[in-house]
Amino acid sequence: MLKKAGVAILGLGVVGGGTYQILTQNREYFKKTQGVDITVECVLEKNKERAISLGVAEEKIASSIEEVCANPNVDIVVEVIGGTGVAKLFVESALKSGKTVVTSNKELFAKHWPELEVEAKKMNAGLFFEASCVGGVPIIRTLIDGMQANKILSIKGIINGTTNYILTKMADEGWSYEEALKEAQRLGYAEFNPTADVEGFDATYKLSILSSLAFNKKICIENVYREGITAITKEDIAQGKEMGYTLKLLGIGKDTEKGVEVRVHPTFVKNSDPLASVNDSFNAVHLVGDAVGEIMLYGRGAGALPTGSAIVSDVIFAAKHNEYFYASFENNKKGNNQVKFVSDFTSKYYIRLTVKDMPGVLSKIAGLFAKSNLSIAEVKQVAISEGNAQIVIITHACNESAINKTLNKISNLEEVVGVNASIRIED
Ligand code: HSE
Repeated sequence: MLKKAGVAILGLGVVGGGTYQILTQNREYFKKTQGVDITVECVLEKNKERAISLGVAEEKIASSIEEVCANPNVDIVVEVIGGTGVAKLFVESALKSGKTVVTSNKELFAKHWPELEVEAKKMNAGLFFEASCVGGVPIIRTLIDGMQANKILSIKGIINGTTNYILTKMADEGWSYEEALKEAQRLGYAEFNPTADVEGFDATYKLSILSSLAFNKKICIENVYREGITAITKEDIAQGKEMGYTLKLLGIGKDTEKGVEVRVHPTFVKNSDPLASVNDSFNAVHLVGDAVGEIMLYGRGAGALPTGSAIVSDVIFAAKHNEYFYASFENNKKGNNQVKFVSDFTSKYYIRLTVKDMPGVLSKIAGLFAKSNLSIAEVKQVAISEGNAQIVIITHACNESAINKTLNKISNLEEVVGVNASIRIED
């Protein structure tokens, strides 16, 4: 029998517009293939012209969240406003009135998932968030419904398209960071204020949600180490490439015997790593499960129709099911103090130094590495100018604290002009 569900869309921006388009254009297709008849009952959008231009009938434009919540034909409320201001109030109102909520809002979810879940549970309402992480890539359903057989050991991904676009252009076109950012802004990938993307906040929100699901433990954003891409130079990207590595902003989560580690930072991966060929604004997530081994999902992490695809998938799921997913871990705001976190990460390093070009410098530097029991895998002198030489050192795996201490000592050597770059390598 055909199930029926009425939807309200809060916000008809890029993603709201894409969602409206998919829901209205594919209504017959969903009836046939999914056995659900989904109707858009109303929208909440300040810009009436925008709503009308998308084909929304004027009488379906609600004037307040109260009107949406009081509408008995609305079962599912789609929130695509973004941010944690009005979006949070609207989502809370919808849940309190017993509506199921579907959201694409990673910041809201990363910061307020526990409280929203409490409200949802009280009313036996659904709370769906596939579109909050990695846009059109069905990573959340994969983690919840496709990987149950596994203990997930690691999650590693390119989960921010803007920074991937910038890094790709710096690598392929030799653009500076500033040039690539400007083009990303012109294309609408990066916002006028690009901080959320380029400083890694967006990826941090996503990683906290994804690693909570992957490891079945609440990972708060405060637990995620974060470093953005603003200090990255095209010289290091090019040099790394020559030495066999491609630079990506990775979100990395690992659940090890020592504890959980979750981090977002620029990372060199081997040129042969599948993540190395994920270019432009594309996203990808690599998972390792103890039963299935490796899985990789690839696709668009943003955009009207890709993100709309994830939202509509949640809407259809909500329309077809009466029982909803709630976190199986202790989902509280401060996390769970039983969970141990690792903060002194282990990785290989790419280090670039500018040194005076004179006898004995290398041996002094190597001596400091040896003294700290750090092992060098490769050394390359890459350029000489005005009596200075640029040296790149690739280390074997070492602890963050040890490498930082050693670099500090190296930077104090009188023959060392500066430590220009220190970038983790993940392989
Ligand atoms: N700004 C994000 C990105 C998309 O560049 O991937 C939405 O999270």
